[in-house]
Amino acid sequence: MALVARDLGYTYSAGAEYRIEALRGVRLTLERGDLLVIAGVTGSGKSTLLRLLAGLLEPGTGDVEVDGDAPRSRVARGRVAIVFQNPESQFFAETLMADVAFGPRNLGIDAAEDVAAAALASVGLDPVAYGGRSPFTLSGGEARRGAIAGALAMRAPYLLLDEPTAGLDDSGRRDVLAAIGRERATSGVAVVTHDPDEFLGDATGLLALDAGGVVFEGDVRDLIDRPEGYLAAGLRLPDVVQAQVLARERGAVIDRVELQPLAAARVLAQARRAER
Ligand SMILES: Nc1ncnc2c1ncn2[C@@H]1O[C@H](COP(=O)(O)OP(=O)(O)O)[C@@H](O)[C@H]1O
Ligand SMILES: [Mg+2]
Repeated sequence: MALVARDLGYTYSAGAEYRIEALRGVRLTLERGDLLVIAGVTGSGKSTLLRLLAGLLEPGTGDVEVDGDAPRSRVARGRVAIVFQNPESQFFAETLMADVAFGPRNLGIDAAEDVAAAALASVGLDPVAYGGRSPFTLSGGEARRGAIAGALAMRAPYLLLDEPTAGLDDSGRRDVLAAIGRERATSGVAVVTHDPDEFLGDATGLLALDAGGVVFEGDVRDLIDRPEGYLAAGLRLPDVVQAQVLARERGAVIDRVELQPLAAARVLAQARRAER
């Protein structure tokens, strides 16, 4: 049971003179419980990859399977939820509550309004204060959280989020990160970001794209052994990892990279003692 992509590629305006090859040769597997971080600079193909995984685009090459079914098939309906990079473009209902409840109601989930209210609360939007608001009057950060609530309410086994913390303040970011953490109890989550720092501590996998191709694939810990592709793609190593890479270049013996600052400090102090 997984969301699987094989040899996935896509070209915009294929056949035209100005065709743009946005993605090529991507393979990945997303299982329930996973947090896959998809990184890359602007234009590297991240949003295109998510649209393909959600079945919103038909692959140019390769294929996508959702628990064995094509994402565009009727049986796969509701199994992949996606939040776009511009969440405002996702709203259509008169109130936020109606918008968030639409997905679960359409999927035949009982008590859709209760599910929607819980989803709103889980991203830090009080359903009483916000439920009756027009989604088009929300601030950027509120709109993003509202769109994430709409995806959470679908209770899909696979959740795809395009830059879910962009434009959020600290508390909004914490709410969204916590909601993603809870969602992983039942779903596989893929997060697209150009600043992977905030997700890397919890990530089960990391995929970096550059100009439509995969330049790094592995675990965050693998970055310390082969950061070249990742850095060449214009991405910055997380500070915590960078500190350990630098210490290692200076002769520190570090067997296992730590991702939390406190654990990393212990590793560095330990390596220092070993040096003496
Ligand atoms: N609708 C579109 N039509 C033509 N080209 C597009 C379209 N959407 C994206 N592209 C191009 O495809 C490439 C990848 O874009 P995108 O997947 O949005 O990258 P990212 O999300 O990493 O910024 C870019 O060169 C972009 O200009
Ligand atoms: Mg994008």
